[in-house]
Parts: sequence; C-alpha cells; structure tokens
Amino acid sequence: MKLTKTHVEKITFDNFDFYLKRDDLIHPDFSGNKARKFYYLLQQDLSNVDKLIGFGSPQANSLHSLAVLAKDKKVKLDFYVNHIPSFLQQNPAGNYLAALNHGANIIEVGQLKDGQTLERYVVQQVLPNESNCQYVPEGGRYQDAAVGVNLLADEIADWAASQKIEQLNVALPSGTGTTALFLQKRFVQLSLPFEVLTCACVGGDDYLKAQFNELSNVDSHHPTILPTTKKYHFGKLYPEFYQIWQQLKRQTGVEFELLYDPLGWMTLLEYVKQAAGDTPIMYVHQGGVLGNATMLPRYARKFG
Ligand SMILES: Cc1ncc(COP(=O)(O)O)c(C=O)c1O
Repeated sequence: MKLTKTHVEKITFDNFDFYLKRDDLIHPDFSGNKARKFYYLLQQDLSNVDKLIGFGSPQANSLHSLAVLAKDKKVKLDFYVNHIPSFLQQNPAGNYLAALNHGANIIEVGQLKDGQTLERYVVQQVLPNESNCQYVPEGGRYQDAAVGVNLLADEIADWAASQKIEQLNVALPSGTGTTALFLQKRFVQLSLPFEVLTCACVGGDDYLKAQFNELSNVDSHHPTILPTTKKYHFGKLYPEFYQIWQQLKRQTGVEFELLYDPLGWMTLLEYVKQAAGDTPIMYVHQGGVLGNATMLPRYARKFG
C-alpha cells in the first residue's frame, strides 16, 4: 500500500486565516490519523501472523483502517465490539460497511459483567487463546505509533521551512492524544519552536493529560490543551457541532468529520479570538470523513 505526502492549503474560516494539512487525502481507504498511527504496522513483515486483533466501536475509523491493513497483509482481522446497533446491522454504512467489505470479522461480545471493559476482556480472555496474532490497542495508542507521526511532523517541518515560517502553531483535536503528543515530541526533538494545540474530545482534560503521561512523562512533549466551554460527551450529537461542520463546509469547501473536528474548530476559534497573535496556525485534517455516512443520518433522525 502506497502512502503519499499530503499537501497544505490556505483557508479562511470566520475571517481568520489558517493553513490546512490535508492528511485526510493520504489514502482513500486509510484515514489520515490511522495511516500515521498504523504506519509502523504497515511496514512490518506480518507473514508469521494469522490475524490482527483489535476492539472498539463498530463505527470506528480504526475498524475500517485495520480491515484495510489486514487485507493488505493477507491476514484476518478479528475486531471485538460491545454492541452493533440493530439499525446499523440492517443498514450497514460508513466504516462498518467498508470493514465488512474488506473481510473484517466483527465480534459482538454484549454487555460485560461487573464493569469489565472491552479492553480487559480482549487482553485477558481473547489474547491468551490466540497463538499467532498481532494485537492492536484501541485507537492506535502504542509507542510505535510515533514512527508514522514523526513522518507527519517532518512533512510539516519541511513545508514550514519552504515557506520560511519559523514559528508555527499546529492544531488538531485529540482522542487518545497519541497523534498530538508524538507531534509535539518530534518538534522538540527537531528543536523547532512549534506548539501543538489540541482539545480533549474524549473524557475531558484530566483524562487526556493522563493519556499524555502514559506515552511520555516529559512535560515539554505535552501539547497545550485548549479549554472547552462546556462538557461534551464523545459520540453524542450536539446542534452546535453540526452547525460548525456546515459552516466549515460552506466557507472552506472542505468536508470535515463530525466526531472530533467540530470541537477541534470550536476551541481553536475561541483561541484565535482571544489570543490571536502573529504566529500562523496549521490545522491538521485527520480524515475520518467516511464516518459521516453514519453520523449524518443520526443528526437527521435526531434534529430533523
Ligand atoms: C478523525 C480523527 N481525528 C482525531 C482522532 C484522535 O486521534 P488520537 O487518538 O491520536 O488523539 C481520531 C482517532 O484516532 C480520528 O479518527
């Protein structure tokens, strides 16, 4: 599978100028963020492995990307989920459909007892019974994700040098924080005064800080977390998310995804309104747009 370098565009949103790194265009089947985090696995010889094992949501970008990776490597994919909504089973769409088309084996385990998490179930009950598998932690949160994220950082550094930009803020929304943290770490290693700005889309600021600490306990590697004005629950539908998604599409002509990007842009707009300095800002479009195929009908059903 060939991954190409991605280009940078200039966009204007709500009268502010941004550079946009089009990592969403890295590969049609491998969404930007996962292409970076799974790059290490893509480079590995997996010929002695029978299957990849992952877990998460049946609508996750990572399910689709792992299915593509498994197909490319000619291995199976077992992907564990708690529950597949009956609407999705009857009307497969988006990442779920794409993963099925690529041959993914999606295994529903149901509600687990005694507050057991899906992760613990997979690690304690599935992996010990598999002799030849490659386990992939949820959302690509593992140290080797740095290999692909470093390439993203290097592309940004090369682009900035070509534009004679010495100082840059790089903004992107976080889930596990893996992409943002490894980007910041690489900029520090390259001695570049680039600041990574992010926001916590999953679990709040304290959860994100804890995730950062698991990957690196060096303070300078930690991105700046931009505050959110209210508590948003990951995966829930909010009219203001849909509104900013529409405005982005109308004003920039670019389609973003609906889980992470709305909060990413809302927090970034607040930041530029309050602290706008001269430092240019680059937003990294991390892909995931295929997930809109299930998110948009959900918005239509809920808000009409
Ligand atoms: C489109 C998109 N944006 C942002 C993220 C969050 O990335 P991370 O978990 O590396 O913080 C993800 C999840 O992988 C994603 O799919």
